[in-house]
Amino acid sequence: MSLLITPSILSADLTHLQEEVDFVRSADWLQVDVMDGHFVKNISFGAPVLKNLRTSLPLDIHLMVSNPADRIDEFLKLGAKNITFHAEAVTDTAARQNLMERIRAGGANVGIALNPGTSPIAIDDIVEEVDLVLIMSVEPGFGGQSFLPSVLKKVTALRKKFPELMIQMDGGIDDVTAQECVKAGADNLVSGSYIFQSANRAAAIKNLRAAGQ
Ligand code: DX5
Repeated sequence: MSLLITPSILSADLTHLQEEVDFVRSADWLQVDVMDGHFVKNISFGAPVLKNLRTSLPLDIHLMVSNPADRIDEFLKLGAKNITFHAEAVTDTAARQNLMERIRAGGANVGIALNPGTSPIAIDDIVEEVDLVLIMSVEPGFGGQSFLPSVLKKVTALRKKFPELMIQMDGGIDDVTAQECVKAGADNLVSGSYIFQSANRAAAIKNLRAAGQ
């Protein structure tokens, strides 16, 4: 699988969001970090912010929310390509499967996310059914945090067990840490501040892509 680069708009200049999204059109996906102020301390944005956004990039919705079941319809209506919920927010297998069915019925792929301190054992019940596992390399809630290399062993172990699984990483990913992520087995990199704090967003995306070459 080739390396996908996924800018996170959490770190974009939200007063010029359409311009920022245009600047990253050379990426593969566009990630929207949805935070409810409960599952994570921070509150970010919801579907209304995306309503008038024009992009050809597939929307990757990262639900950092306590009740993802309440949130998915609004993003499915926007034509989301992928919706990821957190294993820590939905622990019951039947509830996870119901969520997965609803997301798929709405035309999107299903991701499940693990916080840095959560073992992959927590998703043993569903890992063979999801389309993507998101391994957080920072504690969720804020952009601009430092990369936690301790999570790399989780990625390596997951890649060894599931050679075909899409493994996304998110948090503190720049042109240096991207190399470590790819080496560990990640094939989809989310990056916010490295891209949106670079003078040239397209060049930053190119630098991240180089990690996969
Ligand atoms: C954390 C967010 C961030 C964001 C990426 O909750 O999920 O990881 O997407 O931000 P950077 O790349 O600045 O760490």
